[in-house]
Amino acid sequence: MNQSPTPLLQARQIQARISQIARDIDRHYDGDEIVLLPVLKGALVFAADLLRELRTPCRLEFALSKSYGSAMVPGAEPILSGPPPETVADRHVLVVDDILDTGGTWSRLRNRLLEIEALSVRGCFLLDKPARRVEDVKPDFFGFEVPDVFVVGYGLDHDERWRNLPYIGRLDP
Ligand code: IMP
Ligand code: MG
Repeated sequence: MNQSPTPLLQARQIQARISQIARDIDRHYDGDEIVLLPVLKGALVFAADLLRELRTPCRLEFALSKSYGSAMVPGAEPILSGPPPETVADRHVLVVDDILDTGGTWSRLRNRLLEIEALSVRGCFLLDKPARRVEDVKPDFFGFEVPDVFVVGYGLDHDERWRNLPYIGRLDP
């Protein structure tokens, strides 16, 4: 686990795709204000770049989730904490996460946001790994589809390592 990740997506490719996603999001909300809700920690880098590309008026709140320890497979249910209810009630919420994998985090977070009366809930993911989907969910917006490999960098970690890589790479076991 000490060798460097094999590059899959270069920093420049990621930036270019983020601009396109931002235009799709702007078109979708058509000037309505949204609450951008990055899921920490993994979405930090993606959300920071996406936020600066958006022309849609944005508020910013955070959710926190943790589903992996040092293993490269999901453990038990992810630990999830959402934003204060009053910050999302009656607002359009756009959840931002690094990767949509089994869909567990996204489906639980979406249900919780609807329970606390968000007006609408959409999900934007930098990466989509459909091969491992368990929940019947799809991304509303996404950057790149990735195969069933473990990826790190650009916010994504393995056991808290590699988040600071400027590109996304594959980590071989
Ligand atoms: P899900 O709940 O299974 O969809 O998983 C979502 C979370 O698992 C993501 O936000 C990531 O933090 C983590 N995750 C899933 N696949 C990977 C991966 O390939 N590399 C790093 N983290 C991952
Ligand atoms: Mg995450």
